[in-house]
Amino acid sequence: MPAVASDLFIEQRYERYPAENQLAWQKLYARLQPRWEKYANHRFLRGLEALHLSPDRIPRLDEVNRRLQPLTGFQAKAVSGYVPAFVFFDCLRNRRFPATVTIRPSTKLDYLPEPDIFHDVAGHVPMHADPHFADTLARLGECAHTAAGLAAGMPAETRLKTLTSIVRAMARFFWFTIEFGLMKGRGGLKAYGSGLLSSYGEIQHAIEAAEVQRYPFQLAWVVNQSFEIDHYQPLLFVVDSFSHLYELVDRLERWMREGKLDNVAPGEPRIKEEDLQSFLEVAK
Ligand SMILES: [Fe+2]
Repeated sequence: MPAVASDLFIEQRYERYPAENQLAWQKLYARLQPRWEKYANHRFLRGLEALHLSPDRIPRLDEVNRRLQPLTGFQAKAVSGYVPAFVFFDCLRNRRFPATVTIRPSTKLDYLPEPDIFHDVAGHVPMHADPHFADTLARLGECAHTAAGLAAGMPAETRLKTLTSIVRAMARFFWFTIEFGLMKGRGGLKAYGSGLLSSYGEIQHAIEAAEVQRYPFQLAWVVNQSFEIDHYQPLLFVVDSFSHLYELVDRLERWMREGKLDNVAPGEPRIKEEDLQSFLEVAK
């Protein structure tokens, strides 16, 4: 298996952030804070506190990790951009979270097609301070090894098609849980998905807007449901609890082994060649 490349990770050159970057962080944090209190899952709020993220400055990853690692073993590791799918999941399995360290311009706080440090560190990392969530994420990372192992045993003529289907199912699962998941909570629905937690507009929209369709999580639906990334999500899935989420990851892996992910519905997301290759390399 390929070593998770040590050259995947970069240094966070903290002195390179200009004042404009710090301003973007301050604005983003100040806008989100009251919405987190209202709409975020309580374990996210606990994670924010445990990690001492500052409203005033971009976090230094080594400081975050000093607090995070003793809690769950997770660390946020700086990367420069795109990480191939298998490598990304393998990082999660090893409790390393690839984090973008750049930040959006302070004049464009709302729309962001690519992750930035606010999404990755303010949106994702507080959840990693929760032991139950951390176990779930690492378990989801293990599923990529299961997929690579299965791909190795597939007939060559159908391998690519079947693997594409499995990786698409994993991407959809990730999207509707880790990125856009809602959970029943004290006082109603709360967001635990990081795409919601890092978006001032969408966190409120996801919970309040009448036009959003919110359904109890159904695995057969989710793995077959396409999604688009460039607008607010019209359809979201609700889990009961963190134990429920963990069980769903277990079921996802079982379905993978049983071949139930081999022919999921076509459509978004499109699976890139490099993502498939990252699984096939490990399957050799
Ligand atoms: Fe994300």
